[in-house]
Amino acid sequence: GKGTYPFYMLKEIDEQPAVMRKLSQIYADEAGKVKIDEAIVNALIEADRIYIIAAGTSYNAGYASKYLLEDLVEKPVELGIASEWGYNMPRLSEKPFFIFLSQSGETADSRQVLVKANELGVPSLTVTNVPGSTLSREATFTLLLHAGPEIAVASTKAYTAQIAALAFLAKATGTAIHNDKAANFDVVHELSIVAQSIEATLSEKELIESKVTGLLETTRNAFYIGRGQDYYVSMEASLKLKEISYIQCEGFAAGELKHGTIALIEDNTPVLALISNNPKVAAHTRGNVSEVAARGANVVTIVEQDAAIEGDDIVINNVHPYLSSISMVIPTQLIAYYASLHRGLDVDKPRNLAKSVTVE
Ligand code: F6R
Repeated sequence: GKGTYPFYMLKEIDEQPAVMRKLSQIYADEAGKVKIDEAIVNALIEADRIYIIAAGTSYNAGYASKYLLEDLVEKPVELGIASEWGYNMPRLSEKPFFIFLSQSGETADSRQVLVKANELGVPSLTVTNVPGSTLSREATFTLLLHAGPEIAVASTKAYTAQIAALAFLAKATGTAIHNDKAANFDVVHELSIVAQSIEATLSEKELIESKVTGLLETTRNAFYIGRGQDYYVSMEASLKLKEISYIQCEGFAAGELKHGTIALIEDNTPVLALISNNPKVAAHTRGNVSEVAARGANVVTIVEQDAAIEGDDIVINNVHPYLSSISMVIPTQLIAYYASLHRGLDVDKPRNLAKSVTVE
């Protein structure tokens, strides 16, 4: 049950530090050595390209893991929207490997692609929260999320668990191919830092709720912007806000705004800017913040500590750049939660939505 929590979503948001630690217990031994089925690692090594297939939040988690996988596994990672690939499979590489990300393991759109992959003889891995689920049974391999049941329709802990589980897979594969960055990436330690960062953010709920007040209670639209990893988090942040607050929200690559979309910015349009500590892009995103502020946008900045400046709204403790999507998404989950709550909506059961989508 949800215990003393008013909604499952808040409980599940709060469970995320424990889920991060649980994954370290499952996927590493006491000495911190990563334990991933060797057959999965070998199949990844055999492949020349990784295709991540998913829907909704799981699709966004795939993007959040792309850079980490590419860096450590040394292969291109391509994302596919399950409902598109089921009918429009693009030309595949010579030795493809498919990863299906699915909290429920029952998403019909993803299954449609898995059926095709099996027909083509393409090896596959399902990363899922539900052992014995359809996608788990039908794929070559399974990696479990161990996040515990996710009841709220809006997915939270499955997103962060997916990124963490893929971090273990990337570390194991990178180590097997003697990738230097993999050798230097202590995933257990870095995830413990992530868990602490999440805890610090969770202790700031009142501050985060106060940012929603006046910003998201009556607005019809909003934007999340960011670059690189923060762009990927923007996609997830905006999906979360849309589905439970019914605010039309777009997650946008910050630099792309000036190529058209900035025309939508008017007085008091909420723009939430995500700025993790990536020196290559942080200053550019700041520039985009100034551009929208000059056009009247109501800006909220969500910034990693080392990139923070005076006047930032929400500051997040630093984590390893591979894992910043996990820590940066937490405030956006809370923002969606409080926006829904302040608008008097049923946080856990948004209209028109079901927890698992078993029709195409
Ligand atoms: C969003 C959400 C959906 C699911 C999507 C995929 O909060 O819950 O977008 O992420 O339907 O579901 P799974 O991961 O079960 O395949």
